Amino acid sequence: MFLGNDTLTVDNGRVKIDGYDVIDLAEKYGTPLYIISEEQIKINCEKYFNAFKNYKKEFILAYAYKANSNLAITKLLSKLGAGADVVSGGELYIAKLSNVDRDKIVFNGNCKTLEEIIMGVESEIRAFNVDSISELLMINDIAKKLGKVANVAFRVNPDIDPKTHPKISTGLKKSKFGLPTDLAIKAIKLANDLENVNFVGLHCHIGSQITDISPFIEETKKMMEFIVKLKEENIEVRDLNLGGGLGIPYEKDKKIPTVDDYANAIINTIYEFEDKVEIPNLILEPGRSIVGTAGYLITKVHHIKETSCKWVMVDAGMNDMLRPAMYDACHHIINAKVKDKKEVVSIAGGLCESSDIFGRDRELDEVEVGDILVIFDVGAYGISMANNYNARGRPRMILTSKKGTFIIREKETYADLISKDLVPPHLL
Ligand code: LLP
Repeated sequence: MFLGNDTLTVDNGRVKIDGYDVIDLAEKYGTPLYIISEEQIKINCEKYFNAFKNYKKEFILAYAYKANSNLAITKLLSKLGAGADVVSGGELYIAKLSNVDRDKIVFNGNCKTLEEIIMGVESEIRAFNVDSISELLMINDIAKKLGKVANVAFRVNPDIDPKTHPKISTGLKKSKFGLPTDLAIKAIKLANDLENVNFVGLHCHIGSQITDISPFIEETKKMMEFIVKLKEENIEVRDLNLGGGLGIPYEKDKKIPTVDDYANAIINTIYEFEDKVEIPNLILEPGRSIVGTAGYLITKVHHIKETSCKWVMVDAGMNDMLRPAMYDACHHIINAKVKDKKEVVSIAGGLCESSDIFGRDRELDEVEVGDILVIFDVGAYGISMANNYNARGRPRMILTSKKGTFIIREKETYADLISKDLVPPHLL
């Protein structure tokens, strides 16, 4: 019914997720409420495993923890066979708690700290995706002190325009991420001279929410050409990591490429180089396309006023879900109470910021105070970017599954809000 939301249904005027009535869930668990569909995550994950099942070498789906690192979700993905793309000590800690196979963990980021590198080396992860020569030297140093040899891959900046929002483009020449190929070659040669690092591969990530296949083809081609160039210098590449970035259908009337389209484009591009080099293992780091469409934000209408337009004021706000305020992101919204009449409304949160708006001039089933609205596709970069602005606690999150409905994150209380604040004695 809605593109990408296979487990949301509308039956006899009732909106259901994994078979559970949204209005009942709002009554039982309160609002605002994040709902994550276990079934949808399984569907999204399976699409990747199926699309790459015939890849000639090892295929690793290293789920990007930044999209949503809730422990129940990371445990579910680990059980489904996913690895982890982590970018902080915190995410590595969660990956280990989720029993992710260490050989499926990759560590990204352009500013890994000493403490984080120690954690990664001790955990014997599959690879650090190294972003600078100074980082390489630090990893070698730490590995030496710990009596280990750490696997390193290099993040390459391919200078590609992914045609997405500028704030989530990462592979252009001016980006802070990665090394251009000439510097990457120097870094690889240096790595080969160092004793406590082992060069294993290349990494690349051009951006997020990419809904056109051509930048991925260009990325894969550039990386394979680089692998050919390295072979001429007698350097073998075991792993090729192409990052994440496949977009999801936020707009419900616009078809976008499927995981199959994306997989075929990547696989065929790699195979074009088969007569020139050994095919590498393939690692991908999808985040949004695994959990994005599995998440909904359920919010209650508290007030309505008519000024320049009809304003619908809801109890979720930009602290709970930042994407519209930060990127002008468009998330589909419906009224969970299906009615005969439709109307055009603007939906706003209650924070003291003009950008705290979930949607302007949207056509919804007629809205009344007390109605429950459903904001779509917030499973990725929703709760993971939530914050306490305006001293608002982050909301509760539940998982809907065939086994029932479960709270997977408690809502934050007033006491939680000040739990890290300290008052010096003279102010007590
Ligand atoms: N790998 C690397 C190195 C990344 O930087 C990212 C995302 C991913 C993988 C996962 O990309 P995905 O498959 O989710 O597109 N907060 C923004 C998105 C920032 C993405 C940052 N990096 C948003 O809400 O749109």
